[in-house]
Amino acid sequence: VEIFTKETRDEQARLAADIIEQVVRSKTNPVLGLATGSSPLPIYQELIRRHREEGLSFAHCSAFTLDEYVGLPKGHPESYYEVIRNEFTRHVDIDDSRVSSPDGSADGVETSGARYETAIAEAGGVDVQILGIGSNGHIAFNEPGSSFDSVTRMEELTEQTRIDNARFFDSLDQVPTHAMTQGLATIMKARKIVLIASGEGKADAVEAMVHGEVSQQWPASLLQGHSDVTVVLDPAASSKLI
Ligand code: F6R
Repeated sequence: VEIFTKETRDEQARLAADIIEQVVRSKTNPVLGLATGSSPLPIYQELIRRHREEGLSFAHCSAFTLDEYVGLPKGHPESYYEVIRNEFTRHVDIDDSRVSSPDGSADGVETSGARYETAIAEAGGVDVQILGIGSNGHIAFNEPGSSFDSVTRMEELTEQTRIDNARFFDSLDQVPTHAMTQGLATIMKARKIVLIASGEGKADAVEAMVHGEVSQQWPASLLQGHSDVTVVLDPAASSKLI
């Protein structure tokens, strides 16, 4: 695990975008793994800027989100498919048909996980996966206790995660109770991982991820066993590392 601490969001975003740009420019059909949430937003903004000002093209890429709510109607603005379109993909030249999120329709969840694993594999596997981290060490919706062998599946959201995400909905009871999420084994298959974290609230999780014992209690600690992980932090998020 390689760790960088940068003073500003812009510097964090540039470093992460450099890694992604290198993959996008060097592969014939690059596969991007995209996280939602606040942390990656500066990266998406920097990639959009490079697209507009420097001609960085994503036309030959495909993209897979980490997760998707269960039960939101298709086209719901808070579905992760729509969120990632609005934050990133519709501002660059990647066709909508090449952007996927797990099928979170209520009647699709039985087979959705397996179909998503197949779709990722058929695209060639994820070349570069962008990740955030939860304050409890979760990655995607793999909460503490998730199996290291887990693949894409439906998970019940913890009360804390629903409260954290309620800001995007009118009220807490509108936040879905379940989500489809890539598993820990799915994420570990990505060839390259870029994890971005900011703020004091992430400091314990970052410390456990980097120096802690590899344990299901801190799902991100599994990344210690991956051969190509870059962690991009701000001073607050790195404050507990020694
Ligand atoms: C997002 C995701 C989550 C977030 C994590 C951090 O697709 O799967 O694991 O990466 O909850 O969220 P933020 O970046 O909003 O602090």
